[in-house]
Amino acid sequence: MSKSEENLKEAFAGESQANRRYLAFAKKAEQEGYKQVAKLFRAAAEAETVHAHSHLRALEGVKSTKENIQAAISGETHEFKSMYPEMIAKAKADGVKQAEVSFDYANQVEKIHAALYEKALAELGKNKEGDYYVCPICGNTVEEKAPEKCPICGAPASKFIRIS
Ligand code: FE2
Ligand code: FE2
Ligand code: FE2
Repeated sequence: MSKSEENLKEAFAGESQANRRYLAFAKKAEQEGYKQVAKLFRAAAEAETVHAHSHLRALEGVKSTKENIQAAISGETHEFKSMYPEMIAKAKADGVKQAEVSFDYANQVEKIHAALYEKALAELGKNKEGDYYVCPICGNTVEEKAPEKCPICGAPASKFIRIS
């Protein structure tokens, strides 16, 4: 890997993280009544996404949808088959409960993501339509209808975010 490719990967990771961090900071600023600061965090977050996407394009990280779904399946599969199980075991051993719960939620949901992507790959081009619902607590991702109670974290259907 060339140094510039390495740099693009590092910059893509950094800009991606900055985007999510700033959105979390914006939410906090909103709660604390700092409307203008919240707006600045959201504006900078948007700009970091522009940078992240630009770096990703320079890395040729966006391919055909079929290839992108395959890449998503392999990423999710790595996460639920090896990355998170190892992290969960370590968090347990270290007695860091919040980390353990956080990893466990993600682990369960990445498995669901892999399955949804597998399904999407099998159905690619069939133009099936329907909404998805996302649990704001654990990230559980569900087709068509929010469950009455999230089977992973117990959140009620009313909390789910609809992706239409
Ligand atoms: Fe940036
Ligand atoms: Fe995922
Ligand atoms: Fe949930």
